[in-house]
Formats: sequence, C-alpha cells, structure tokens
Amino acid sequence: MKARPHGSPLIETRRTNRIQARTTVAHTNTIKVGVLFSKTGITSAIESSQLYGTLFAIREINDAGGIAGRELVPISYDPGSDPVKYRMFAERLILTDDVQVIFGCYMSSARKAVVPVVERWNRLLFYGTLYEGFEYSENVIYTGAAPNQNSVQLADFMTSNFGARIYLVGSNYIFPYESNRIMSDLVSQYRGGAKLGERYVRLDATKDDFAEIVEDIRTTRPDFIFSTVVGDATQHFYRAYAHAGLDPASMPIASLTTSEVEVAQMGDIAEGHFTAAPYFRSIASSTNRRCLEKFGRMLGSETIPNASWEAAYFQVHFFAQAMRAVGSADIETLMPELLRSEFDAPQGRVSIDPSTHHTNLNPRIGRVNREGEFDVVWEAPAPIRPDPYLVAHTLGDWMVR
Ligand code: ACM
Repeated sequence: MKARPHGSPLIETRRTNRIQARTTVAHTNTIKVGVLFSKTGITSAIESSQLYGTLFAIREINDAGGIAGRELVPISYDPGSDPVKYRMFAERLILTDDVQVIFGCYMSSARKAVVPVVERWNRLLFYGTLYEGFEYSENVIYTGAAPNQNSVQLADFMTSNFGARIYLVGSNYIFPYESNRIMSDLVSQYRGGAKLGERYVRLDATKDDFAEIVEDIRTTRPDFIFSTVVGDATQHFYRAYAHAGLDPASMPIASLTTSEVEVAQMGDIAEGHFTAAPYFRSIASSTNRRCLEKFGRMLGSETIPNASWEAAYFQVHFFAQAMRAVGSADIETLMPELLRSEFDAPQGRVSIDPSTHHTNLNPRIGRVNREGEFDVVWEAPAPIRPDPYLVAHTLGDWMVR
C-alpha cells in the first residue's frame, strides 16, 4: 500500500457527519472501523479530543502501511452527547456500515446504551474513558481508569493533605452518582471521614445552577470538594467557585473528569485544583514528547491532549497490533490476541488485563498550575492492575497484582 502523506485531509460529509480518511487502495481492501464521539452537545469538547486521538492513531497506522497493507477507514457519526443517538448510530455502524469494531463513548450513559447493541450483534466496543467500574462485558475493552486506578489514589492524597470532610457535586447521571458513592465510602471507611453535602445539577447546567451549591460549600466548609461534574458544566462550577472567593489553597476541588480540555475552557481560575488520571499532557517522558510533537504536526490545532485523548489513541494501537497478528477483526478471532496486548503509550507501558478486559494503567495526581497544565504531584511507582469491582483494594495499596 502506498502510504498517505502526512497532513492529507480527512473528508467529512455534511449530511451524515461521516468522516472518511482518503484512501489510495481499492475499497474492498480496506478495514472499516466505527467511531462514535460527539462533536456537538454538552460533552463535545472532551469527546472531540477522543475523536482526534482516534483519527491520529488511525493515520499513524495507515502511514506505516496499514494492517498488512490494508488501510483503516474510520466511519464516524456525531451522536450529539445523547445516549439514544449512540445506540442508534451503533446499530447503523453494525447493520449498515458492517463494522466489526467501534471506538467510542464518553459518558457512562452512552456506554450503557451501546453495550447491549455490541453484545446482541457480537461486535467489539473499545471504551477509552474513566468510569465508575462495576461492569464487565465480553464485547468491551475498557482502556480508561477504573475506580481503583483514580478514586482510591485521589481519596488517599486528598484526605492525607486536606482532611476527610468532603462535599460531593455531580452531574445528574450514572457516573457521578456511582463515583460519589465510591469516594464517600473510601473516605468514611478508611479515614473516618464525613459527607457534608451531596448535590447534583442538570447535564447542561450553567453558572446560576451552582450559585446556591457554592454558598452551601462556603457555609459547611468541607476539607475538599469532589466534583463529578462533566462536560461544559465543569467550567461553570469552577467559575462560580472562584467568583465566590473560595480558595483552592485551603479548600480545593478534586476531580476525575476535569482534564486539560475543561481547564482550557475556564481561563486562569483552575489553578490549585486537583485531578487524578493516568495521563497528563505535561508528562516529561520522551515517548510523550514525541507523540505530542507528531500529533501537533498532524492534528494539533483541533484539540487539547488529555487522559481521554490518550486512551482513545492507544486503544486503536491495541486493536491494530492484535489484528496484524491474527489477520481478522472478527471478535472471536481477535479477542484472544487482544487480551495479550501491551503498548508503550504516552503515559507509560499499558497492557490489557485478560480477566477483566480492563487495562493496567499508571495512576497520577495532578495540580493545575498558572499555565493551565497539570503539575504531577504524585504518581504510582508501577502500573496498577484494574479492579473494577473494588474487590481487593485498600487505601494506600498501590501494588501491581
Ligand atoms: C463517564 O461518564 N464515564 C465520565
């Protein structure tokens, strides 16, 4: 196959919002893959980063000769941050476009809508987003952090440095409810902590929706706030917090979902707040630097690299490596090889844990600095094995099992 030159355009048709990489080989010799990330709606900023992380990996793979000479062709739809449309487009990808594999979903509500579809038609979903855990599907590979790879470390760090009286604020859907329950259990079980408040806002919340919550935080004075607010609402919460004069130095917000993308939406008011994630753009390794430079040349103006971008990127390489080895995208043929996957990702070495279909990841905690980047204030000494059902964790247990 003739490699496509760097920087050649992706073609997007307006009618279906379908994105196709330009191809130089016969159509029948290509491998179509489904891509489902929102370019519109409340989580479009973070999901666009996952879209471009996916397209970046696909372009890297195609530029290196594809998979045994066959070019990967992304078929992409915009589900508009709406779980119903995720389900609809997943069905279309499988039944009309005939894909074997889908890369997609950010909100857990979207994943919950797509999983029954891939299970029914026996196809494969790669899910590259941190989530609340307590799930397993034969048809899913999970490459974002499970709670024992972010919440456990964040609970330990925040309670050790600030105290165990917490206030929980989240968006109104499954991930925030479940993650808040886990954080609440961790601080009370292991640190004798107390929950001073637990509040939920609508998914499209604006600054006004946070005014009364911020006042309640000012009155109750928790040691830290755990935010499971997602998408565009995140900036409104942090802004309301800053405008009320609440100081992250003494009472910070800790999060799993406030990434470089959401920080960039806030201007300079995020400084001093914390996020737990396996990847931050600021990681100083040569692998990360090389990856960022290449992404910057190819697609860098489109989005801001962050943990969800990175998982969306390396999971395509998991797929390509496995498919190269077995020559088929069919789930039955691919899965045994896929479950042996390892990859030198920008965060460090990652590998799939075959017993859970989740990924061995490198947990970190970052603190936002003046430039809107995360200074890494803690990192795991080695990759942490996923424990999505929180069977074996304790606070402070960072061992790779
Ligand atoms: C999420 O809903 N898993 C962020």
